[in-house]
Amino acid sequence: MPAHYECMIGPSILNSDLSVLADECQRVLDSGADYLHLDVMDGHFVPNLTFGHPVVQCLRKKIQTAFFDMHMMVADPEKWIQPMADAGANQYTFHIEATDKPKDVIRLIKEAGMKAGIGVKPKTPIDVVLPYVEEADMILVMTVEPGFGGQKFMEDMMPKVEKLRSMYQSLDIEVDGGLGPATIDMAAKAGANMIVSGSAIMKSDNQRQVINTLRTSVNEHIQRANLNR
Ligand code: DX5
Ligand code: ZN
Repeated sequence: MPAHYECMIGPSILNSDLSVLADECQRVLDSGADYLHLDVMDGHFVPNLTFGHPVVQCLRKKIQTAFFDMHMMVADPEKWIQPMADAGANQYTFHIEATDKPKDVIRLIKEAGMKAGIGVKPKTPIDVVLPYVEEADMILVMTVEPGFGGQKFMEDMMPKVEKLRSMYQSLDIEVDGGLGPATIDMAAKAGANMIVSGSAIMKSDNQRQVINTLRTSVNEHIQRANLNR
């Protein structure tokens, strides 16, 4: 049976020029991005601050059709579900470390009409999310410590991706942190299909080429996995 997951490239705009956020988003979409990965940090769950739903609401007015994947690096994930849904978010990815009640958070996200993603920090074992995978739409395996763009990709997170992929052939598995042409093969080989890439795409003067390189690697590994099935 062929793999049921598709490659999707989601640039993270964290390290772009946030004073012209909509233009930066439009530029990556015009260069072939499949979705936008929007990093929300609250200064509690991570030691950094970015933006919240008012910015997302303004962005949605300018960018009407793109899929907004909200990476919620926040201490109180329930709190922002409805405001983000109202602002036009499509997917709400909360961190498993931020709640004692993941099932309730997933239910609230779905009731608000969004897809539910669960993020896992580097030090959290993947087994912690296994009881919730069937209810979630996506699992995000962090490949850096969340909080800042431009960090080094942690190859030792790949066994987490491999384990998830061996158990779930159609699950969307996202990787985030330090991904670019130099590291994509490791993530693609492990079975990741949703690729977040910040600095490597945003800082390039040929965004289309970077996005194509990432996509080619993931697609090659999907094909290979299908041949070995
Ligand atoms: C880190 C964020 C990432 C980050 C990715 O906390 O979740 O999305 O912006 O940026 P790069 O690709 O530069 O590591
Ligand atoms: Zn992120």
